[in-house]
Amino acid sequence: MAIEIVRTPGHLRATLNAWRGAGQRIALVPTMGAIHQGHLDLVIASRLTADKVIASIFVNPTQFAAHEDLSSYPRDEAGDARVLEAAGCNLIYAPNVETMYPSGFATTIQVSGITQELEGIFRPHFFGGVATIVTKLFIQAAPDVALFGEKDWQQLQVVRALVRDLDLPLEIIGVPTRRESDGLALSSRNAYLSAEQRAVAPALKHALDHICAALENKVPALEAETAAQQALLKAGFGSIDYLTARHAETLMPWKSGDPLRVLGAAFLGKTRLIDNRGA
Ligand code: PAF
Repeated sequence: MAIEIVRTPGHLRATLNAWRGAGQRIALVPTMGAIHQGHLDLVIASRLTADKVIASIFVNPTQFAAHEDLSSYPRDEAGDARVLEAAGCNLIYAPNVETMYPSGFATTIQVSGITQELEGIFRPHFFGGVATIVTKLFIQAAPDVALFGEKDWQQLQVVRALVRDLDLPLEIIGVPTRRESDGLALSSRNAYLSAEQRAVAPALKHALDHICAALENKVPALEAETAAQQALLKAGFGSIDYLTARHAETLMPWKSGDPLRVLGAAFLGKTRLIDNRGA
């Protein structure tokens, strides 16, 4: 039997209440569809910590700016459902836009501080949209645990902050980034790359690696970042939003002794790729 897809909070709650009533621990994997192995890693990790796994599929309009790729974002619900089920997912929640944002919708969740850095500068609408939809999903599904990819490292920190600040009773687990054999982080947006751009794309991961290696060799952060930015442009990236060493949790500029995360966002043609790594 094909995996069940529910589309309303009421239907979702009815199914989950039955599972919860039977004492089962529930994991939520929030996604925007276009499922790849990175998402499936989240489902597989969920199965280690929960009895039932729900994946949500919702291309959230409030986290896209007008000039971004909302209308062209890849959508294939039937294909997504097949691979999610094969990975061990038990239920898909795929509400439509009117269900999530009914007419008159007027509430936004804003996390301050870390959302003003990095992605927050280049995509100022983004974290308000993510925090609002993730909070709604947490309230609708009331999961025991939710899993997010480390690929969106800043998003993971924002979600941790909102769960802490709002005392939401669930655990957040971050799952390491899945990479192609040449180092490129898996992303639904990789589908936009031409063959030529795809060949250049691993340079972003190499640039992150260069910064980590330079910091290990006590090169000053600014010098390490500048050299890596130049190398990334030389490799064929068109422009760089940021390529920088940060405190892993606050995302403020890194100082010696801080936990390290190196993060980058850069364009290959019209496609914006992001990536990050720890020390
Ligand atoms: O990472 C994503 O795919 C999205 O930002 C999320 C967390 C599903 C919210 O729409």
